[in-house]
This record gives sequence, C-alpha cells and structure tokens, in this order.
Amino acid sequence: MIMKLGLIGFPVQHSKSPWIHQHFLDQLGLTGRYHLIEIEPDQFVAEINRLKTSDLTGFNITIPYKEKIIPFLDGMSPEAEAIGAVNTVVCQNQKWYGHNTDGLGLITALKVQFPDLFTGGKTVLLLGAGGASRGIYHALLQENFSEIMIANRTVERAQMLLKLNQTSIKGEAISFAEAEERLAEFDLVIQTTSVGMSPDSDSRVIDLDRLKKDTVVSDIVYQPFWTSLLKEAKAHGGRVHHGHEMLIYQAKLAFELWTQQSVDAKPLLERFNQD
Ligand code: ATR
Repeated sequence: MIMKLGLIGFPVQHSKSPWIHQHFLDQLGLTGRYHLIEIEPDQFVAEINRLKTSDLTGFNITIPYKEKIIPFLDGMSPEAEAIGAVNTVVCQNQKWYGHNTDGLGLITALKVQFPDLFTGGKTVLLLGAGGASRGIYHALLQENFSEIMIANRTVERAQMLLKLNQTSIKGEAISFAEAEERLAEFDLVIQTTSVGMSPDSDSRVIDLDRLKKDTVVSDIVYQPFWTSLLKEAKAHGGRVHHGHEMLIYQAKLAFELWTQQSVDAKPLLERFNQD
C-alpha cells in the first residue's frame, strides 16, 4: 500500500514535516509520500470537500485550520474534543477522525528526557494561554503534578483556560510580572507563545533571574534552536528542553496513529541537533 499523507495549512512551504515523516516512512520501510497542501482561506471549504473523496491515508492540519476542520470530521478523540482543536486526521473509508497530538507530544518528549519531573508532586508554570497552550495544558492535567499555574499577557485568557481543569491539581492565573516574582516555586516552566521566534530572537516573555537550579525550561519555539529564554535558563543553572522535541514527538504520535506501528524519534532528534 502506498501511504498518502500531507499537511493542510496556510502557509505551509517552510514546514519541516515532510522531512520528518519521510524519515519515519523510511524507518519502517513503507512506501509513501507526505505532501504539502496549501489552501487559501477562501478555498478551504471547497478544497476540503474535494479531499474528502480522495485516497489520503491521513494528514496533519495546522494554522489557521485546526478548529475549522472540526465540522468536516466524522469523529474525534476525547483529547481533541476537550481541546477543541485538531492537528492530526486519520482517514478510513472516506471517514475522517480527528486527534490532537501537540500537547501529548510535548509531554512524551519531556518524559523521555526528564523522567524525574513525573514522579509526583512537581509544580509547573505555563507561559501563554493561546491555542498551543490549551493542548499542552490538557496533556499536563493528565499527569500527577501538584500545581499548574498559567501566566499570560492577558490574564483573563489564562483564567478561561483554567476552566479545562476538572482535576484536583491546583491552578491559578497570573501575570508575567507575578510569574517572574514567583519563579523559584516551579520545577518545570513551559513557554508556549511565539515570542522569541526568529527574526525576533532577542525577545522573551519573562526574565529568569529567580529560576531555581535544575528547573526544566521548555520552549516550543524551535527557530532558533537556542532561544533567548533557553540561553537565560542555562545561564541560571536550569535544564533546557528545545522546541524541536515537541515538533518531532507530535509527528511521531501522528505517524503512529496513521500506521498503527511505533517509530523511534531518537535518530531524528540527533539529526536535528546537528542541523
Ligand atoms: P497559538 O495558537 O500559536 O498559541 P494564539 O492562540 O494566538 O496562538 O496565542 C498566542 C499566545 O501568545 C497568547 O498567549 C498571546 O498572549 P495574549 O493572550 O495576551 O494575546 C501570546 N503572545 C503573542 N504575542 C505576544 C507578545 N508580544 N508578548 C506576550 N505574549 C504574546
């Protein structure tokens, strides 16, 4: 069988996903291709209806369509349902099933690199309260953290996000100033905004002067590899987790949904580090 995969979004030309998924196809010895499917916003409905009758095996969906795809789906995973956004679609007999592997991808990557964070009772600071943060927050709530704080420029948006929390994990919405002040309370800090992405690579959402030694700082921005936040984290004795980890692990989980086979992310992570 020839696997027909792809990424739907606008724009998508600079995506690294074809490279990642080609690697996974080769790893399993499968024949297939991962296509970039760029759809202009005013063509979205017509193009999606056309694709619905195509022979796609599965696809990823990215900005600005992670929510807009939902009415075209025949089913959704409980995670995607709770998050209200989809990044992966599995196609079976022209029925489409939506999943969201973004947040779980990040958490899976963190578990591999920093298992000590998941032994129970650790505290988390989430920076940002947008779409990316929502998926990560949902995945964090499935773990045994004692507290998850959300800091955002617009604190009301962080407060809205707290409503996803149906668990006994303590939560609070705070400002960036308060996050800087209370930084020593946290074992894990996750940066989920686009701040720091090149060419704006000198900026960061908060300063890390009060970072506790060995706190893990994870940044979802992967361009540049060393964001301003990660450089500062390292300078203050923190442990760093680079943005490409989430990129590769969300792809790994998507690929595993399409093939029902497991793939190894490690060779790709090593290649990425060298590039
Ligand atoms: P995404 O889906 O990529 O998360 P989004 O839903 O637009 O995008 O969310 C963007 C996030 O980045 C938000 O937390 C946003 O803060 P606000 O809710 O206050 O808008 C944050 N963000 C974007 N630009 C920012 C900036 N210059 N400084 C601080 N936060 C910023």
